[in-house]
Amino acid sequence: MLTGRRVALRARHEEDIPLLRTGLYDDAVTGSRAAARPWTPMPPDAKDPRLHVDGLDVMNVSFSVVDVESDALVGTATLWGIDAHHRGGHVGLGILPSARGKGYGTDVVAVLCHYGFVVRGLRRLQIETLADNTAMLRAAERNGFTREGVLRSSAWVLGEFLDEVVLGLLAPEWQARQRATA
Ligand SMILES: CC(C)(COP(=O)(O)OP(=O)(O)OC[C@H]1O[C@@H](n2cnc3c(N)ncnc32)[C@H](O)[C@@H]1OP(=O)(O)O)[C@@H](O)C(=O)NCCC(=O)NCCS
Repeated sequence: MLTGRRVALRARHEEDIPLLRTGLYDDAVTGSRAAARPWTPMPPDAKDPRLHVDGLDVMNVSFSVVDVESDALVGTATLWGIDAHHRGGHVGLGILPSARGKGYGTDVVAVLCHYGFVVRGLRRLQIETLADNTAMLRAAERNGFTREGVLRSSAWVLGEFLDEVVLGLLAPEWQARQRATA
């Protein structure tokens, strides 16, 4: 369990899966914007790799996100594509629609940074998001991520090509921010 100001990140529990599936992946619009894969309907008993995790994959680590006080499930978080040679990894998250806009996403990014830099000893974390995803861009920048570039027309989303923004944060930058806020 990793704890932030607003959220705790814990292992995925079987009972989390129906709520996460309904909130984040069942709807074609939400699912298409959040995923790198085309949206397809997912049967209830399918072992969707975005939701079913065995805890043994150390390069793609999934958490369930709960409210730190009430323990209510609010979303999912991943540190994926961890590269042990180049010491990098990618941050991903999804907050359930009813829990958005309350500061959870920003705190999830903060906790994933702690996991990536402290627990895993990484040097660089990266976020890729659609250029119109203002909430994700703000959550990243609030945690010190820098916009490094735009991948023009890189994502096919619901009938149009959208730009993606790449953001990066290096361990020394994160450590300096930690010292400044201690
Ligand atoms: C993107 C997402 C993770 C953000 O989480 P959240 O809990 O809603 O975000 P927060 O409440 O921490 O808000 C972050 C910032 O975005 C702003 N914000 C929140 N919702 C917003 C919206 N709909 N439009 C514009 N800004 C918004 C907040 O005011 C805050 O800005 P501030 O720090 O300047 O006050 C969440 O909306 C989500 O899960 N979206 C769908 C899945 C997704 O896009 N995942 C990311 C894929 S890379």
